Amino acid sequence: MSIIPVPRVAVIVVAAGSGSRLAAGIPKAFVGLDDHTILRHALRGIFEAPPMQVIVVAPAGREGDALTDAEEAAADRRDLVSVVTGGPSRQASVAAGLAVLWGDVEYVLVHDAARALTPPDVFTRVIGALEAGAAGVVPVMPVVDTIRQMEGDTIVGVVDRSSLTAAQTPQGFQRGILESAYAAAEDEYTDDAAVVAAAGHTITTVAGDGVGFKITTRADLDRARGLVRPLRHTSAPLGEPAL
Ligand code: C5P
Repeated sequence: MSIIPVPRVAVIVVAAGSGSRLAAGIPKAFVGLDDHTILRHALRGIFEAPPMQVIVVAPAGREGDALTDAEEAAADRRDLVSVVTGGPSRQASVAAGLAVLWGDVEYVLVHDAARALTPPDVFTRVIGALEAGAAGVVPVMPVVDTIRQMEGDTIVGVVDRSSLTAAQTPQGFQRGILESAYAAAEDEYTDDAAVVAAAGHTITTVAGDGVGFKITTRADLDRARGLVRPLRHTSAPLGEPAL
């Protein structure tokens, strides 16, 4: 009998947000891009990456739906999947995921389910940087807009964008560093790298990906739907009508 090794990496997929800015009437992770939800698409990228413990953090009352999506995406690796209930803030949802990490896990990635189309390569790059010894890793994209500083309604300056970068997920951390940073955090931070940086650790970067954008608004949803449509056409077997 072959024994499958326990993965050294876990990913916490935070999917417990309400999606109030999307105003879809249901939690954002369960909004459809095609006949699959945002969460299901996010999990597809994850199961194409190297094997990881996969912890999905679901909105209260939607744990069963999250498990269905996760088990479908996992196929024959259902043993890797667990679902926990999220909290009132993103930080509380990540903490709920941290509580169920397996003992052997050394590196923890935290990923927004709302970044439904993040390719597996980004996960691989983040894991590579952790294996090379980084305390914390963030995938980043260059800032393309001109960023202006405001006071009230008035523009008071332009920020030099060469020193700025846009942070994506999955963000990866040495397990012990992330756990102790979360245990020490007294404020709410917008992402996990900020929690770990506040605990005094250096965060390094790897290249993100343009399709790893976060679905936040209706325009983002339309963009994501437009991107998955051609994917479906190209994956249709020859001779079958395109959907
Ligand atoms: O609201 P926003 O899209 O910025 O949230 C980022 C990610 O954090 C989403 O995937 C969302 O589901 C998740 N989240 C969560 N629990 C919360 C709030 C947000 O898991 N209480």
